[in-house]
Amino acid sequence: MDLNQIKKEAQESIQKCQELTALDDIFRRYLGKKGSLNSLFRTMSDNSLQDKKILGKQLNEIKTELEQIISERRKQLNEKLLSQKSKGKIDIHKPGKRFKIGHLHPLTKVIYQMEDIFQTMGFSVIEGPELETEYYNFDALNIPADHPARDVWDTFWLKDIKKGNKSLLRTHTSPNQIRYMEKHHPPLRIIVPGNCYRHESTDRSHGFQFLQIEGLMVDKEISLANFKAIIQKFCELFFGPDVVFRITPDYFPFTEPSLEVSIMDKHGRWLEIMGAGLVHPNVLKAVGYPANEWQGFAFGVGVDRLAMIKYGIDDIRLLYQGDLRLIEQF
Ligand code: FA5
Repeated sequence: MDLNQIKKEAQESIQKCQELTALDDIFRRYLGKKGSLNSLFRTMSDNSLQDKKILGKQLNEIKTELEQIISERRKQLNEKLLSQKSKGKIDIHKPGKRFKIGHLHPLTKVIYQMEDIFQTMGFSVIEGPELETEYYNFDALNIPADHPARDVWDTFWLKDIKKGNKSLLRTHTSPNQIRYMEKHHPPLRIIVPGNCYRHESTDRSHGFQFLQIEGLMVDKEISLANFKAIIQKFCELFFGPDVVFRITPDYFPFTEPSLEVSIMDKHGRWLEIMGAGLVHPNVLKAVGYPANEWQGFAFGVGVDRLAMIKYGIDDIRLLYQGDLRLIEQF
């Protein structure tokens, strides 16, 4: 083989080579004991003295050149290997990476806190369906179809799959008073948190979806004094001992008498937080409790309104926008 061709071929394979072991193979192929250059040295004795001198010089030059480029390539491959290894290493002196930890939404926090407070006062936490029937949302609560009070609860009605069973998105958590009393005997104390829906235009204190917690206590000789004591304790534990609240008359078909509770916010404004009252005898009758034997009080408190007052949030709609600038403050 022509000397220049051997040199060219060797140079190309050295440049292309990506592995140190493959580079050792190349070294052996060209410069090793049995390599191409050595076998050429061995065949030199067949030539004349003049030719031997020229060929010997050429062979030595190629040998030196190949040795040089192989050692350079070895250096490059070594460096590459080192930098790859250092990438996988852990530098234990570097400061640690900070992980972002999530937290509960302010509304969830309020619900959990309310559940804790009412549980310490002997109330159990119950859940009920968001998809309700007309019977539980209205009729059983002493609100017949032609009752003007139905207008208070602007309702999202659903197209019914089964005829004669009108369904809706519950407008309040009160249907759970009926659902629970139908299956349980008094005495009882429950709270029922959950979403409610109303087909109404929104403003700073009204959403079309919002959260309520229903409360119901049925026992012997229950009066408004029991209600006031429980609500006062709740407000003090939830807002702190300096809370200012007021109880004023209201109207609900399923309570008699009916009340409204308001809290003074940090701007000195009254914000209504709940409707309440003594359970109407017609409601107790609807669930089959013996007349005059049991009394009770019930309330429906707006969770969003409590969160607004507690955290100083001026607009209820902010609570549902998922904006981290708000949520990360709590
Ligand atoms: C009721 O929903 C009655 N079920 C409450 C009740 C229960 C009365 C048991 C008697 C016995 P009302 O519509 O007032 O009542 O709503 C109760 C509370 O829910 C309000 O005080 C308010 O805090 C909250 N709320 C009502 N509508 C909205 C709304 N659109 N957005 C945010 N919160 C609301």
